[in-house]
Amino acid sequence: MKKITIAIDGFSSCGKSTMAKDLAREVGYIYVDTGAMYRCVTLYALHNGLFDKDNNIDIAELEKRMPQIVLSFSLNNTTGMPEACLNGENVELDIRSMEVSKRVSHIAALPFVRRALVEQQRRMGKEKGIVMDGRDIGTTVFPDAELKIYVTANARVRAQRRYDELKAKGIEADFESILHNVEERDYIDSHREVSPLTKAADAIELDNSRMTLSEQKQWLLDRFHEATEQ
Ligand code: DC
Repeated sequence: MKKITIAIDGFSSCGKSTMAKDLAREVGYIYVDTGAMYRCVTLYALHNGLFDKDNNIDIAELEKRMPQIVLSFSLNNTTGMPEACLNGENVELDIRSMEVSKRVSHIAALPFVRRALVEQQRRMGKEKGIVMDGRDIGTTVFPDAELKIYVTANARVRAQRRYDELKAKGIEADFESILHNVEERDYIDSHREVSPLTKAADAIELDNSRMTLSEQKQWLLDRFHEATEQ
């Protein structure tokens, strides 16, 4: 069967990564969570004092240090799924904290950060056989992807999912601040100047607010079969 590129874009916490991971596992493709890459750069900036007390970023210093920020993924032996590493250290849990979530949209709006990460994402996908999720995969990273999905869901539903996910990982969470964060990121992600979140003209839209995980999984698998059988 021919290998294709699958781009899954959409708002934060709409279940893109769960759908993308399930599909990648099912069809034996590589999965890349591009949000994790923006989160890693944010974590680096936090650990290296590049945010001041008012959360302003030292943009010039971050740009200078971009070449020192090495991102990679290592496979988790139990789940078989890639986990984010920052300069060789597994940071998969740290990058999901509220500290990072609160700041990541600002880092992701910086053109030099996007340029560096998009270039790396294109390299990761050049052999195809990849499921990549993010905000600009179908529009900017792989405009020629054979299958593009644009996922949406109601903001409260997304905040609840994020809350449940953090709780399940034993991370302290507050529903109202998560909802606020989800709405704020929606706004920043869709209003930034470089590659704002928009639906690619040829993407298939899925509102999964009322779908179970297994319904979403089956829906995506059906689209995959349609795309590979053409
Ligand atoms: O998917 P996520 O919530 O982990 O993404 C974290 C942030 O990174 C989010 O605010 C949007 C941004 N992002 C982006 O701008 N482009 C991508 N391809 C992926 C994520």
